[in-house]
Amino acid sequence: MIYLDNAATTFPKPQIVTDTVLDYLTNCGASPGRGGYDSAMQSSEMLFECQENIASLLSLPTPERIVFTKNATEAINAAIFGIIKDGDEIIISSMEHNAVMRSAHECTKRGAKLKIAHANEKGKVSPESIEKLISDKTKLICVIHSSNVSGTINDIHSVARIAKKHNVYTLFDLSQSAGIIPINARDFDMLAFSGHKGLFGIMGTGCLYVREGINIKPLLYGGTGSYSESARMPDFFPDIFHAGTVNAPGIASLSEGVKFIMHEGVYEKEKEITRYMYDLLSEIPNIIIPGERDRTSAISVVLKGFDSVGIAEKLNSLGICVRAGLHCAPLAHRTLGTITTGTVRFSPGFFTEKSDVEFVVSSLKKIVEN
Ligand SMILES: Cc1ncc(COP(=O)(O)O)c(C=O)c1O
Repeated sequence: MIYLDNAATTFPKPQIVTDTVLDYLTNCGASPGRGGYDSAMQSSEMLFECQENIASLLSLPTPERIVFTKNATEAINAAIFGIIKDGDEIIISSMEHNAVMRSAHECTKRGAKLKIAHANEKGKVSPESIEKLISDKTKLICVIHSSNVSGTINDIHSVARIAKKHNVYTLFDLSQSAGIIPINARDFDMLAFSGHKGLFGIMGTGCLYVREGINIKPLLYGGTGSYSESARMPDFFPDIFHAGTVNAPGIASLSEGVKFIMHEGVYEKEKEITRYMYDLLSEIPNIIIPGERDRTSAISVVLKGFDSVGIAEKLNSLGICVRAGLHCAPLAHRTLGTITTGTVRFSPGFFTEKSDVEFVVSSLKKIVEN
């Protein structure tokens, strides 16, 4: 099998990640923050360690303000519904995943106004186009760091500067960039990302980061293991967002995944394999590859005259795993001009070999020629 769907979830995981899950389930297994016995304390310690590792990877100043969610979608929902109220405005880019688009759309049903900043045909949104949409009612700007369709990387540092100037919060979706490109997120307001993609955690992991000073409502209410006598949720992090038992084996895996990234220096290899695949694919006649060459590892293609799903099915019959269609991002496809065709998305990862890429591209060439 050649797995090229790392933009959906990374596979395989580093061996240490798999071993850690087994080790946690075999030798610890306790619920963190819920007991004073040794293994429960060990479990709580593991959560802190994971926060510290993520903070270190992304240069975040306050590890305790990283909360664990079940995926990026939950983190995005928590941020948007925790901030936006009736009468507020929310600005999103036209490259957003449905996790942002549908949540923002739901806000409009609850009395908020949605504005969309249109990206160019390469999928890049200009910070100036966002600035033009800001009004005195704008509360939040949500921008995808890197597209899950075209891999296009947005200049979120400039967006953050503009938002700060206008006293507006930002939420950046790092699902396709965390662990894939170096990020210094020190000055950002809010971040959401999956743990199971570039960070190599297992499925069921994600994170929300909320910088110090931002008041936000929790998405869920319930037991946290702290201040149990009170009818209110604790107002401190991470407990404010940790109602119910967290996915401790998943968090243990995420912590090891992040350590793996820091030790292995994965960025260069991922960039190189993506560029290698992009260049080989570009040589196929009648292929369209929306986006820029410099990108994260989502390479979506349209082969003129061919159905995307049909191509993915043919590749599957050769043991090649790719995704076809709209990738939960119809807004992005409208922007890139691929809404009617959809795309076949190749997303290589750290464990993809050049020989895999060569086999896939030559198979694709044969499919097109025949
Ligand atoms: C850019 C982007 N945002 C959000 C998500 C949702 O991630 P999750 O499945 O972890 O909720 C994805 C998943 O593909 C994504 O690519």
